[in-house]
Amino acid sequence: MNILVTGGAGYIGSHTCVALLEAGHSVIVADNLCNSKADTLDKVKRITNKEITFYEIDVTDEAAVDRVFSNHHLDGVIHFAGLKAVGESVEKPIAYYYNNIVSTLVVVKICQEYNVKRFVFSSSATVYGDNTVPFVETMNLLPTTNPYGETKAIGERILTDIAKANPAFSISLLRYFNPVGAHESGLIGEAPNGIPNNLMPYISQVAKGKLKKLRVFGNDYSTVDGTGVRDFIHVVDLAEGHVAALDNITEGVHIYNLGTGQGTSVIELVKAFEEANGIEVPYEIVDRRPGDIASCYADASKAKRELGWTAKHDVKSMCRDSWRFEKNYKE
Ligand code: NAD
Ligand code: UFG
Repeated sequence: MNILVTGGAGYIGSHTCVALLEAGHSVIVADNLCNSKADTLDKVKRITNKEITFYEIDVTDEAAVDRVFSNHHLDGVIHFAGLKAVGESVEKPIAYYYNNIVSTLVVVKICQEYNVKRFVFSSSATVYGDNTVPFVETMNLLPTTNPYGETKAIGERILTDIAKANPAFSISLLRYFNPVGAHESGLIGEAPNGIPNNLMPYISQVAKGKLKKLRVFGNDYSTVDGTGVRDFIHVVDLAEGHVAALDNITEGVHIYNLGTGQGTSVIELVKAFEEANGIEVPYEIVDRRPGDIASCYADASKAKRELGWTAKHDVKSMCRDSWRFEKNYKE
């Protein structure tokens, strides 16, 4: 298939480009590079030995997106493009609502105009809010604590309404849990700008000596050791989940959790990183981070049942691959 990947130069997008190319699909990327670099796509080409067509465009720009659709016969779209920093979304709600909602509307509108029926959307486990774990796709969603989370919940609703009105559309809403790790080549991975918000890049940068100490946000949650519990998923498994979603997509809207089904606490992740890489990660316990929930992990059985997809990598290999990328990475 010819697949348009919006946000394809980003962290999850670039790994998905690798998975798509390796599965024999052709890839067209549309990215404005607001949180990524064009040379990531060169690395994807090096890893796969395949070509990618790249458009440096903003996908909120309807005319620019139209040009891409008129230049290619597309069979489907994976829509990753979006802003994703939770804290920043609280400070800049207009930028987040505008970018994340308008981009989705523009891309899906042009899909309809060009009769491109397969659409895969990057959603997030954040839409479950503080539900009881494990999170199941049939649960009622609870409010999220920030504009970023709301853009994902709204995006899901918009796409659900569009599929209702257009029965020919096949839409997958993929709820990612906590993506970590990197391609085993060490060439592509997560390289956040500035001080990382997320746990794994923070741990990696402490290990590298770039940051002094990890701050563990709270050890008084009702979890195995009091620290937050998350479902960390290797980004390569997540990427393969997108290929499985595209291959198995059928008419209507389908929601899938992409997680491992295993919860790991913050301290357990720190210990796993130290063991996997033989390197110490100093940390201190500080106050809870506002907006965090105690536990978030998936019931991942629907994706296994319907897509034949399960995550294969364990926490140790996530830690090894994250560290290999961080060690090699030069700004
Ligand atoms: P990322 O920032 O690495 O990638 C997003 C890409 O989209 C970047 O390359 C950026 O330049 C591009 N982009 C943003 N707005 C654009 C626009 N208007 N036009 C064109 N390109 C644009 O983020 P990621 O971690 O790869 O996340 C990909 C998607 O998955 C996002 O929608 C994100 O919200 C979602 N998601 C991520 C996580 C996570 O923890 N990483 C969890 C759940 C959901
Ligand atoms: N944490 C720390 N110290 C840090 C960073 C994080 O202790 O420096 C803790 C958090 O308190 C939390 C856990 O590590 O308990 C994971 O935090 P992250 O920031 O890595 O991830 P979140 O679960 O908060 O959120 C992430 C993405 C969201 C996405 C969500 C989906 O940032 O965009 O996963 O589950 F929606």
